[in-house]
Amino acid sequence: MSLAQIGVTGLAVMGRNLARNFARNGFTVAVHNRSPQKMTSLIEEHGDEGDFIGCESLEDFVAALERPRKVVIMVQAGKATDAVIDSLVPLLDQGDIIVDAGNAHFPDTRRREAALKEKGLHFVGSGVSGGEEGALLGPSIMPGGPAESYETLGPILEKISAKVDGVPCCTHVGPDGAGHFVKMVHNGIEYADMQLIGEAYQLLRDGLDLSPSEIGDIFADWNKGDLESFLIEITAEVLKQVDSRTGKPLVDVIVDQAGQKGTGRWTVQSALDLGVPVTGIAEATFARAISSQLAQREAARDVLSASTSEWHIHNREGFIEDVRLALYASKVVAYAQGFDQIQAASEEYGWNVDRGAMARIWRGGCIIRARFLNRITEAYERDGELASLLVDPYFANEVSAGVGAWRRVVSMAALTGVPTPAFSSSLAYYDALRSDRLPAALIQGQRDFFGAHTYKRVDAEGTFHTLWSGDR
Ligand code: NAP
Ligand code: ATR
Repeated sequence: MSLAQIGVTGLAVMGRNLARNFARNGFTVAVHNRSPQKMTSLIEEHGDEGDFIGCESLEDFVAALERPRKVVIMVQAGKATDAVIDSLVPLLDQGDIIVDAGNAHFPDTRRREAALKEKGLHFVGSGVSGGEEGALLGPSIMPGGPAESYETLGPILEKISAKVDGVPCCTHVGPDGAGHFVKMVHNGIEYADMQLIGEAYQLLRDGLDLSPSEIGDIFADWNKGDLESFLIEITAEVLKQVDSRTGKPLVDVIVDQAGQKGTGRWTVQSALDLGVPVTGIAEATFARAISSQLAQREAARDVLSASTSEWHIHNREGFIEDVRLALYASKVVAYAQGFDQIQAASEEYGWNVDRGAMARIWRGGCIIRARFLNRITEAYERDGELASLLVDPYFANEVSAGVGAWRRVVSMAALTGVPTPAFSSSLAYYDALRSDRLPAALIQGQRDFFGAHTYKRVDAEGTFHTLWSGDR
């Protein structure tokens, strides 16, 4: 019997489909699951798709792999991943590669990589995006870990990844926890993208009194232009869906509380640690939290006054275009912030992440796949040191063209009482970036007043402290 080029342990939704993807691409795959029935059912149902070696024990699984062994772990993030690593390590030899393809938090990946390095093993924390379907048909893959491991692992992962224009949506992100970090920020951006789409929907619904299905048509139309993306495409479909029980639009019978498993929160926590303002992602994460604050919402609903203005939209098409432009501009801000965060972490941890390459591998397979990612890659190819995506000539032009619309939409939302935290905070961020002077000067004055924290002057070097008249 020939040995397997790769092994997958953890055969739930994701691992099962990833294993099938390897097999369908001509690799011999060893498959293992803690409870063997998932392994046997995989072989029973899909054994004809390629070469699987079903293994009941971890010992058999490891023995079935050619060297250096390449083991993909696809189990629940956290304790389960540690448990599987601990069981695998005594069975492996120097130079073998463990790939954690689950959604690990990047500090865990850093810890695991450091520990396994001491044992001579390569540990590759890899982001895998695209859900169940992506795992089977071609995900976006973001592997970190030692560059050396990518030499043997890379070609296999690239083969099973999504392709756009023939280019694989997989590249070595950087050493250490870089892969899982980038996957985390990908999910954070996904939160922002989804929230922005939600705000656009609400504005169109309230402002134009349109049905969800009519708004679905608008999104379908937007999907033919700059906003073309998987999320806009599925939004159109979600809005057109009719509930079979009631005949109402499905979106109207879904409880308006957004769930979260935590990757948005991790992104914001890391951004706070790194000191990078990711306002779009943070507002999107908090918006999900507000939606689930039932006690507060219930208590406030009939108590807080609105004092809102009436909607006065004289030009229906003009308003739709304004909302489209505001959505596009806010989306550019969210991506700019996410890429800033990747850059900051790359500098902090010495990862040397190529931001243009990240946009390239997000073009296919993953949830945030979108036409404009090509533009982001081009921007970083023009200038690898770009201070902000917003100042790239292409994006600066695009966003500038929509700023008037963006301001109209945000002010109209404020006047009519439609909550648009992501639209508004993105515009505030844009205005902060382009301001000559920020009120931070006043904050420095206050800090010096109450805590003698000192300040710098615009006209002299050094640090200064004022003997305030309030000093007591
Ligand atoms: P999952 O429900 O997260 O995990 C179930 C798998 O983990 C089963 O194979 C289970 O084995 C195994 N497992 C749990 N505890 C274990 C332990 N202590 N020792 C050994 N195995 C253990 O499965 P999933 O949805 O396929 O996701 C797998 C990973 O991919 C997760 O990290 C997830 O976050 C990530 N991910 C998921 C998606 C998605 O769309 N679902 C997308 C990208 C990434 P048993 O069968 O024996 O219980
Ligand atoms: P992918 O990268 O393939 O999209 P993912 O990172 O596991 O897969 O999740 C993508 C999105 O689906 C995320 O927004 C995630 O929401 P949270 O991060 O808020 O949890 C959502 N998602 C994935 N699996 C989910 C599950 N089992 N329950 C709820 N939401 C899930």
